[in-house]
Amino acid sequence: MQAAFKQFKKWKKVNDQPVKSETHGNTLVFTYINKKAQPSAQNGTFPFPNGAVLVKEAFVDNGGKPGAKGSVFVMEKRKKGYDAANADWHYAVLGADGTVQMTGSGKQGSSTAFCSQCHKSAKANDYVFGSGTTMKVTPVKLGAAPQNPCAAKNPCAAKNPCAAKNPCSPKK
Ligand code: HEC
Repeated sequence: MQAAFKQFKKWKKVNDQPVKSETHGNTLVFTYINKKAQPSAQNGTFPFPNGAVLVKEAFVDNGGKPGAKGSVFVMEKRKKGYDAANADWHYAVLGADGTVQMTGSGKQGSSTAFCSQCHKSAKANDYVFGSGTTMKVTPVKLGAAPQNPCAAKNPCAAKNPCAAKNPCSPKK
């Protein structure tokens, strides 16, 4: 995960304009994909191969412009059988400084199970939404996800791992 964090800026960036992401702490996001993820993403041929990595970089929404750096979200395709019920993705969240805040599979009981629960609605694209990117995906509509600790509507969740800046923390 840290390797991905160090390298992703050199990967292919699949959107020029930031995408407003209510599901990821109401941030502005950009998506980057590594070489192994490119054929699937660009031709719409799924599933992604083992070793494909997608990284989403989030920024505080500063009146429509990317402000301070927020969390970095990672999806990494693992070997067949890693988490067969959830398309074998590994998930991670890193802080703007690269510290790992969350890491795990999509399996029930894993701290990142909620990632896969929501990404499952993008099953048509092997769990990848691709909203606002140049990736060749079938657009997926999101249903309400009250369980999502990252949701914009739940910015005060005790420890919202996805908030770029927790709007509910006491002012200093
Ligand atoms: C409630 C739904 C939801 C949850 C929970 C969620 N995501 Fe996402 N994710 C999305 C949507 C929708 C997108 C498409 C871009 C956007 O709107 O942010 C996305 C995009 C991504 C992408 C870029 C690839 C793609 O699918 O377009 C990564 C990487 C990612 N999420 C990682 C994570 C991780 C890691 C977690 C858990 C910590 C997580 N997501 C939790 C909905 C969700």
